[in-house]
Formats: sequence, structure tokens, C-alpha cells
Amino acid sequence: MRILLTGAAGFIGTHIAEQARARDHEVVGLDAYLAAAHGPDVAPDPSIARRDLRTDDVDDLLAGVDVVCHQAAMVGNGVDAQDLPAYAEHNDAATARLLAAMARTGVVDLVVASSMVVYGDGRYACERDGDVPPAVRRDDDLEAGRFDPRCPQCGGEITWREIDESTPFLPRTSYAASKVAQEHYAAAWCTLQGARAIALRYHNVYGPGMPADTPYSGVAAIFRSAIARGEAPRVFEDGRQVRDFVHVHDVARANVLALEQVGQHPTGLTAYNVASGRTFTIGEMAATLARAAGGDEPVLTGDFRRFDVRHVVASPDAAREGLGFTAEIAPEDGLARLATDPLRTR
Ligand code: UD1
Repeated sequence: MRILLTGAAGFIGTHIAEQARARDHEVVGLDAYLAAAHGPDVAPDPSIARRDLRTDDVDDLLAGVDVVCHQAAMVGNGVDAQDLPAYAEHNDAATARLLAAMARTGVVDLVVASSMVVYGDGRYACERDGDVPPAVRRDDDLEAGRFDPRCPQCGGEITWREIDESTPFLPRTSYAASKVAQEHYAAAWCTLQGARAIALRYHNVYGPGMPADTPYSGVAAIFRSAIARGEAPRVFEDGRQVRDFVHVHDVARANVLALEQVGQHPTGLTAYNVASGRTFTIGEMAATLARAAGGDEPVLTGDFRRFDVRHVVASPDAAREGLGFTAEIAPEDGLARLATDPLRTR
């Protein structure tokens, strides 16, 4: 198959290109080489077309392409409201332009990188009120060290539940809002074109080639970078917030499976969680990394960020049934290896 891969120079894109080529697919890569992700003095890979989807046409690159793998995005959670236009432009307007170009060139199959952030705080159960979306956490609760969200109806304690792909969207950040909109644009394009899209909702991705931390990095890059500086990871809240850490080799494999099978999917957008299926608290994850690095024990700071969601755990069942994807790298092994995995040198 001939694949157009956007974000080909990025952390996940690099691994997808490698695995797709190992399965004899032809990969046409493009990347904007944004300074925010690659630094100002990047030396672009000559085999990757330098194009910015916000402004550049890609019809020529789409010639003869069977399927598009759209990974290019502005990542992170957003630092403040000034980031809103950049998320909308990079993740939504650029995607809309790509979809229009696919319509012009007759490409009807798409795999698009989405995220578990579309679910926000996800699903909870209240003993009194049943299945509920959690209330937004209150400042006075967070300041008092009460980190779990409350029931939106009775204000009482609630317990997290595993999320499946039918869980309603509840985006809490600018990035999350842009990823929800991106899925909606892709679904609308499917309807207009009789096309097929698979949205892969990644959980917390980590592994070799992660970029060193920036204000937009996730926790794995931040902790790995702290270790590289000889510092202890700094764990926020009470360290008991739950995530699912999925290795980048597994994420790339899920993409290749989706690229190979999107043509057999029904028209419209199908979403799959891409997760290891194993839960880890942030405290456990920090301890695993610190132990493997032989460095200082993590520090529990008690700090919190208003935009953080508390627990996100998703079912990997649909990806297993729909794509034959099951994560192969156990997080305790992959996270221990992360302590010495190389970070990306821009
Ligand atoms: C992360 C990514 C998000 C991505 C999603 C799924 C970022 C900023 N977030 O969301 O873009 O779509 O995974 O792949 O890239 N924490 C600490 N210490 C720190 C930093 C964070 O304890 O120094 C804690 C946070 O309080 C939070 C948890 O780690 O509870 C995860 O934080 P983070 O990785 O930033 O965000 P996610 O919501 O998991």
C-alpha cells in the first residue's frame, strides 16, 4: 500500500513509518517541522516533504496514495487561553484542508490520531445517582487535597469506571476540544465522500524517541527528562491518579493494523481506544522509572493543575475485536526501559 503519513518526523510518526516499511508498505512522509516540537535549528530529513497543512497544498503528495495516516498535530494540554487559536489551526483547520485535498484526489481511507482526552474525566458511578459524568473539580476541594471529582448531582463520592468508545465526549482542554472537533470533521468528510475513517484514541504514549520536555509535554516525557538531569520526578496531587501507559511500538502497530484494515471497515468513522489495558497510578509510574534509573525516589508535591483530569482508564476490547490489536509491551517493562531509552534529539 502507498501511505501518506503526516507528522512523519514526530515521535509517533517515526515509529509508524518504520513499522509500515517493515511490512513492505510505501510511505510518503510530510511534516511541518514546527519549531515548538523540533527546535529552531532543525535539519529536516530530506526524505520527508516539508509541508505545513495549514497553508500548503498536498494534492501532489496524494497522487497514487491508498490511505492517509494523519498524525500531524499540536499536542499537549495547552498552557493558557492564548493557545486556543493554534490548536484550532493546527488540529482542525489543517485537518479540514487535508480532508478537502483527499476529496479532490479521490482518497477515501483515513487513519487519524485521536486521544483519550476526548473523554475528559470519563465515566463514574455514584452509589445514589448511578452512572454519572463527574463534576468539574472545585478549587476549594483541590486546595484541601481532595482530588477525586464529586457526583454532579449529590456532591458525594464517586468511583471511576472503565471507558468504552461510546462514552460521551467531555473535553476539558483546548487540545481536547480540538481532538473532538477533528473527529467530527473526519466523520463529516466520511458522510460527504462515502469514505472510511478510523480514529485511534491514544492513551499515554511513551517510549524511545520521546521528545525532551517542553511546556506542552505529557508526564512520561517530563519524568524521563527529570531523570536525564539527575532530578527526582515530581508527582502532583496524591500520586493516586490513574492512567494507562501504552508503548509507542504498540501505538505504531495499532496504526499499521488500522491502515491495513480501514478499507474493510464500513463507511463512516470508527473509533478505537489504543491502550495497554493495564492501569498504573502516576505515583507507581514515577517509582518504576526512578527505580530503573537508580535515581532519587519521586517527590510527592501535592501540587495540582486545574485542567488535569483525575483518572482515565479505557477498555481495549473494541480494538482487539475490530483490529486484532492487543498491546504487547507490559507497562512495567516498557516504563522501566524508558529510564534509559534515548530521548529525541530534535
Ligand atoms: C496526556 C497528554 C495528552 C495526550 C494524553 C493521551 C500532555 C500534556 N498530555 O494527557 O496530550 O493526548 O496523555 O495520550 O501531553 N503530572 C505529575 N507531574 C508532572 C506532570 C504531570 O504528577 O510533572 C500528573 C498530572 O497531574 C496528571 C498526570 O500526571 O495527573 C498526567 O498528566 P499529563 O501527561 O500532563 O496529561 P494527561 O491528561 O495524562
